Amino acid sequence: MNDNTYVRTEVRDSIATVTIDRQAKLNALNPQVIADIDAAFAGVRGDAGVRAVILTGAGDKAFVAGADIGVLATMTPRTGVAVSREGQEVLRRIERFPKPVVAAVGGYALGGGCELAIACHLRVASERARFGLPEVGLGIIPGYGGTVRLARLVGLGRAVEMVLTGDMITAERAAEIGLANLVVPHEELMERTRKLAGRIARNAPVALEMALRSMYEAVESSMEHAQELESTLFGLLASTDDMREGMAAFLEKRRAAFKGE
Ligand code: COA
Repeated sequence: MNDNTYVRTEVRDSIATVTIDRQAKLNALNPQVIADIDAAFAGVRGDAGVRAVILTGAGDKAFVAGADIGVLATMTPRTGVAVSREGQEVLRRIERFPKPVVAAVGGYALGGGCELAIACHLRVASERARFGLPEVGLGIIPGYGGTVRLARLVGLGRAVEMVLTGDMITAERAAEIGLANLVVPHEELMERTRKLAGRIARNAPVALEMALRSMYEAVESSMEHAQELESTLFGLLASTDDMREGMAAFLEKRRAAFKGE
């Protein structure tokens, strides 16, 4: 167990669970929370014993209820840009994290909390999860990549609808539009998320890293560049022991034991 002010990290069975814990404010993101999340991810990045990460919010009510409105209320044009940039950079590091990151959303994922969930690679929602981008009701717009990333996930029309109405959507609706990968009973949220992360973590770690890199690079580049990168990464994997192990295990009808090398 590794703790900082608002975030704790627990590693068990090759899965790191990063829990945002500022329950009195529904886990709202102030600069310290953002820094603590960043530090937690940096802490497990190079840990070969960690094969997947679960990001969640403490308590029964919220994943994260947004950026801290108390802090935002005091922003000037200059600090506003800085706050937005800082959040964007931390979320970008999560999106480009070399290990799979699964968000476990058991309550409100609003504003920056919704953007944080979207920056993760997969989202498991409990039936109590609520997603929304209510910023325009506060006179601002999503500033942690929400106007950019949501449309890539659910399509421009649905993203525009969520951003312009500011309405919350249910877990069921989130799954319908591709915002949530899976909806589970509330009491089973962590267990089912661990199961999914565990299934992913059984696969070859370098292959997982390269698959993420190829897919996330592809949505930001031309078909030509993306396919060239895919071929390069595909070929690069021939240098790994894990490729030999994975194929040998198949041929020998046994389960592969990957080392991440
Ligand atoms: N920033 C700062 N504080 C927040 C917060 C946020 N984004 N979201 C919740 N809180 C605080 C509340 O101010 C309250 O603090 P207090 O007890 O000191 O007054 C505490 O968390 C509990 O929230 P409360 O509003 O009493 O809970 P609720 O169950 O009645 O409502 C929400 C829950 C999520 C609907 C409501 O808190 C809300 O609308 N939050 C803001 C969501 C938002 O606009 N996020 C985007 C920000 S850009």
